[in-house]
Amino acid sequence: MAQLFHIKTFGCQMNKHDSDSISKILLDKGYSQADSIEDAHIILINTCAVREKAEEKALTLIGRLARLKMKRPDMIAGVIGCVAQEKGMNLFRRFPYLDLVLGPRSIYHVDEFISQIKKRRERVSSLDLACELTCFPNYNGYLKGRVKSFLKIMEGCDNFCSYCIVPFVRGRETSLPAKEIIHETKCLISQEIKEITLIGQNVNSYNVKNQALPTFPGLLKELDSITGLERLRFTTSHPKDLSDELIGSFGELNSLCPHIHLPVQSGSDNILKLMNRGYTRDKYIGLIERLRKTRPDMTITSDMIVGFPGEREKDFEDSLRLMDEIEFDNLFSFMYSERPGIKALQLPGKIGKKEKQTRLSILQERQRGITLSKNKLLEGTIQETLVEGPAKRGDDQLTGRTLGNKVVNFPGRSNLKGQVVGIKIVKGLQNSLLGELVDR
Ligand code: SAH
Ligand code: SF4
Ligand code: F3S
Repeated sequence: MAQLFHIKTFGCQMNKHDSDSISKILLDKGYSQADSIEDAHIILINTCAVREKAEEKALTLIGRLARLKMKRPDMIAGVIGCVAQEKGMNLFRRFPYLDLVLGPRSIYHVDEFISQIKKRRERVSSLDLACELTCFPNYNGYLKGRVKSFLKIMEGCDNFCSYCIVPFVRGRETSLPAKEIIHETKCLISQEIKEITLIGQNVNSYNVKNQALPTFPGLLKELDSITGLERLRFTTSHPKDLSDELIGSFGELNSLCPHIHLPVQSGSDNILKLMNRGYTRDKYIGLIERLRKTRPDMTITSDMIVGFPGEREKDFEDSLRLMDEIEFDNLFSFMYSERPGIKALQLPGKIGKKEKQTRLSILQERQRGITLSKNKLLEGTIQETLVEGPAKRGDDQLTGRTLGNKVVNFPGRSNLKGQVVGIKIVKGLQNSLLGELVDR
């Protein structure tokens, strides 16, 4: 019988994509997927270190593996991803029953490491951040039933925002060869994928470092010309590297969807400087104006941090004012969390947890109002929607996404899955839209 594996994933899209890549590699080597942790011979926990809370969640789950390992000593238990990179060999000391510790850049050899553990019955770790991803693992059939997919075009980050651990755990910025990306896009289309989201910590600096061609707008153009690609998206972009050429792409490329996730982090110049973000509030507002001029229907989402060291009441209010001015379609907001090794550790003016919580709830309440009113504005409009499949709530309800990446639920038959249909929005809700089919 084939050995069963189970991967539990925490963190961002990048981590989800990495877990998919690992699954493809293991399926290709003859392993099968287990439905639950309890059934698995190999358990991998793909971890996120971006905030303390995310890390704690992963560590709690790793702690729970002790019981399983006692019951089934033959089981292989591994920790992969960003916490693995951050804590390294210390994980073996804290959780002596672990067999495998793999950093994010070592995952493409996961099958070899597992064979090594089985053969020699010894612990294995790989934390090399210099290994490069040069091609994509493939396993036909893995994406069956999905209409959209991520595609990693770069790895790592060189920006060193002063609050962020990612550059330390994901290593230096490295771009994948355009040839491979184009080939992978064609493979995904042949597997009935209609929408591709290019991912990387900082996609708009694709190929900038090695001065190779194409640059990011050039890559988008090449991908846009591939037949069968219905929708193209990308995430995340950094405001300091958002060029006019890239903004122009939104007006020129048919498949490029009018949505951008452009993390702002703060509305105060003071704090942006301390964060080492490399742009000002005005520069950010200017970018949004140009984006909206190019595509008036552009949806804009962002990330914001509250309680960064030195954030005065006035700085926090600057963030609220920025939100009112821009009216993000959605905003992901976080309390500043101290992380090992980051520059911000040395900054004075630490904000207490209670104050951070207060600021976060004020900010989130404000955004809820903005999100809802933005969704309500869409009532009565017709939105081009890619149908993803049955909605969670059942009753012949389907779910899809608008060009602006908003979730729409509507009554319809399941044979519409994978098609782009016109949906008239009847109601804008807090987290989604309700609509009805107007044509096929
Ligand atoms: N450029 C990245 C951002 C990754 S981290 C990307 O590819 O998406 C995602 C978000 O987490 C950041 O935009 C920031 O808002 C938040 N974040 C990062 N470090 C943080 C910290 N120490 N405390 C609180 N939030 C943090
Ligand atoms: Fe972190 Fe900044 Fe890099 Fe994003 S751009 S991953 S926030 S260091
Ligand atoms: Fe977390 Fe690593 Fe992504 S720290 S946010 S899983 S890059």
